[in-house]
Amino acid sequence: MRCFSFYFIRYKMATTAMDTNKNGGTQTVIENAPWTDQQGIAMKVYNGIAIALEILVLYVKMTATWLHCLYQFFVPPEPKSVNGEIILITGAGHGMGRETALRFGKLGGIIVCVDINPTGNQETVDIIKNNKGKAHRYECDVTDREAINALAERIRREVGDVTMLINNAGIMPCKPLLQTSEKEIRSSFEVNIIAHLWLLQAFLPSMMEKNHGHIVAMSSMAGIVGLRNLVPYCATKFAVRGLMEALHEELREDKNKDYSGIKFTVICPYIVDTGLCKNPKIKFPSLMKILTPQEAADNIVDAVRRNYNEITIPSSLYYLNMICRAFPRAVPLYLKDFLDSGLEAHV
Ligand SMILES: NC(=O)c1ccc[n+]([C@@H]2O[C@H](COP(=O)([O-])OP(=O)(O)OC[C@H]3O[C@@H](n4cnc5c(N)ncnc54)[C@H](O)[C@@H]3O)[C@@H](O)[C@H]2O)c1
Repeated sequence: MRCFSFYFIRYKMATTAMDTNKNGGTQTVIENAPWTDQQGIAMKVYNGIAIALEILVLYVKMTATWLHCLYQFFVPPEPKSVNGEIILITGAGHGMGRETALRFGKLGGIIVCVDINPTGNQETVDIIKNNKGKAHRYECDVTDREAINALAERIRREVGDVTMLINNAGIMPCKPLLQTSEKEIRSSFEVNIIAHLWLLQAFLPSMMEKNHGHIVAMSSMAGIVGLRNLVPYCATKFAVRGLMEALHEELREDKNKDYSGIKFTVICPYIVDTGLCKNPKIKFPSLMKILTPQEAADNIVDAVRRNYNEITIPSSLYYLNMICRAFPRAVPLYLKDFLDSGLEAHV
């Protein structure tokens, strides 16, 4: 409608002419056409009605979507099947990566386990196979772009096109910024965020070709709220959310092809007992308990199967954060001080 009103007005109100400028180039000259007062008023009224209609349509769409989301809060969407999907999980050799791999394996997914640690990775594959699942093992340092590209080629040949990519591998130096070494800072960014980009460049094209796929990225509550002793880590986990949102927009706004078949899910756990968080501090364990990797993986698999865009684990923190963001920054800080939980520095 906007296009229609724009072109109509342009056609009626202006004529264009090409003029040669001093340098020999051309420029567009817009000359206002002669208008009677009545025609001018009619155009203004028409334009006003067109904009009002556009705003009305926008309002109805936004309200309907909001109501639909509210409905889904009480009646969640049906979980999709992952049977036969080729699911690549980085960091599958331990913690949440392993537990997520086991669950998707049980649901009929063909699991591609990628980890830098061959022993842990092999264990994950063995467990999946013992449960009569299908799994493949690949050792790779996800920070090595050439190795990722070679790996992608191998996986394509040996297993097929990856349809779900779970960017899970992560590291977490935990100390005040001024005590964090250059190597620790660089590695945090290399593993926690830059590797996501390499993996996406390697595996997204086949998903785009088929308009079918799912990208899952491990962020953290530390990617929503800044926490002491985790300055570089928080920066990487905030970046993960930015990357996912921007990529989603890039595909959604593509004018040439429909990519709505590619889904995005960001996972933001709080503290999960995998060994990554060595000195957790929780003032109210009943309110914010440390989760097991099994509990976390149940939430991850559920969110992916229901195509949720972003979840926190536990889910209560999502709403708490939304409410807090509505207040001036100083207000939630009181709540943060009251809850007084986080991570003590690693020694
Ligand atoms: N544990 C938590 O409390 C917690 C909370 C929020 C977010 N997270 C995030 O969840 C993800 C998984 O965490 P976890 O606690 O299960 O971790 P974990 O330490 O238990 O497992 C991480 C796995 O990643 C692998 N890995 C590390 N560097 C790698 C590399 N360069 N290439 C390939 N593999 C590599 C490790 O070998 C390991 O198997 C991470 O991204 C982490 O930042 C964890």
